[in-house]
Amino acid sequence: MVKSKTEYVCQQCGRRAAKALGRCPQCGAWNSMVAEIVTTKRGRGPSAMVETSQPMRLMEIEGEDTDRIPLPIHEFSRVLGGGVVPGSVVLIGGDPGIGKSTLLLQLALVLADQGSVLYISGEESERQIKNRVLRILHGGAPDDLYLLTETSLEAITPAIERTSPIVVVIDSIQTTHTSELDASAGSISQVRECASRLQTLAKSSGVAVFLVGHVTKEGAIAGPKVLEHIVDTVLYLEGDSFHAYRLLRSVKNRFGPTTEVGVFEMGASGMEEVPNPSETFLAERVVDSPGSAIAVTMEGTRPLLVEIQGLTSATSFGHPRRTANGVDFNRLLLTIAVLSRRVGLRLSDQDVFVNVVGGLRISEPAADLAVAAAISSSVKDLPLPGDVAFIGEVGLSGELRTVPQIPARLSEASKLGFQRVVIPQVDISADLRPESLQVIQVRSLREALAEILRS
Ligand code: TYD
Ligand code: MG
Repeated sequence: MVKSKTEYVCQQCGRRAAKALGRCPQCGAWNSMVAEIVTTKRGRGPSAMVETSQPMRLMEIEGEDTDRIPLPIHEFSRVLGGGVVPGSVVLIGGDPGIGKSTLLLQLALVLADQGSVLYISGEESERQIKNRVLRILHGGAPDDLYLLTETSLEAITPAIERTSPIVVVIDSIQTTHTSELDASAGSISQVRECASRLQTLAKSSGVAVFLVGHVTKEGAIAGPKVLEHIVDTVLYLEGDSFHAYRLLRSVKNRFGPTTEVGVFEMGASGMEEVPNPSETFLAERVVDSPGSAIAVTMEGTRPLLVEIQGLTSATSFGHPRRTANGVDFNRLLLTIAVLSRRVGLRLSDQDVFVNVVGGLRISEPAADLAVAAAISSSVKDLPLPGDVAFIGEVGLSGELRTVPQIPARLSEASKLGFQRVVIPQVDISADLRPESLQVIQVRSLREALAEILRS
């Protein structure tokens, strides 16, 4: 006989209690008690464990999943590691309004050509979803796309079993709840219980499940973070509301690389793929204006050229201000300190603003040199030549340090028509240097700026 009841378990120390307590009596943590379903089997003996899995020889296990469902949205597919893996659970996190529902509806629409797809929404009505489909498609919808507006897991599970789809989208995991827990929808215990049941369903039926997870303000409590270890793949959709670009980044993937990034643009009819992000990001660039430098960064295995803008202006009173948009603030402070101490630029009475064009965020130190070049160009009011790109990390002594994957970066710069690239001193064999490209190797930031910013 199987019996289940709800217990409250401290997430810090594991202490169990019959009712919810504001403070754990054992470890003293506040608000750490979370409801969990406890199932007890009566008459359990050693026999209850017998008929489960058997050990298998490693050699007998089939490797390499060749049965991925091809996904015609290439930018999405590359982030997943090539197609959708049947039986996997993929979580897509992101701020509200960033485009998660739109992107997953587009996924549902293109996959409905290959089998039936079930799109379950707990956030929008059928009519709202239909309107969104019309906005994306401008025409008829595929026959095999099924919609369900439902939040109860007890209704969702039979619907999945009845439709036997290849892919299920659940928008969102925070609105889904099971009646077996008396916690409210969106609480840690509901989110975790529902996700792990869906994981079990996915594994047993082979359906691929996409879950939408909102990132909540309170440091992602009850958001994607508590689910990361339950699901197979975690993707984040990033971007800001002032720009149309969206980056789909994978942070965990049991079936592929976690370095890939997909680039999209939110358009009038849904998310459009951006197959040549560098070109797009450089499209509005004004050549010959002081304070603009091109950095060659890497997003996963893909090189990306971005414009970095620097602006300096005399501080009117008090401390000089430093503002970083899209680059790490501490790295900016470091670069400014190196420019003052090692290059001799006078920045102590200047406000410094740095901005990455297109709303991108760069976390790589490889963009240091471009940031330094943009600031120097603004201070001296001299434009950098339009055909030069920069690669390199700046060290504390003003030395230029090498960064990974320089050949890939050089080839992207050359493809986009750049003629000169400033890089650190590294050995690059001649066949990895694009022919049309002049590679300027320098030891230090001072040398790099002297080479390029000659007045
Ligand atoms: P949505 O997918 O609802 O975001 P999320 O599910 O992450 O909360 O996207 C909402 C925004 O996208 C909304 O502000 C409208 C905009 N949008 C477009 O610009 N173009 C479109 O074709 C669609 C469908 C939405
Ligand atoms: Mg949504």
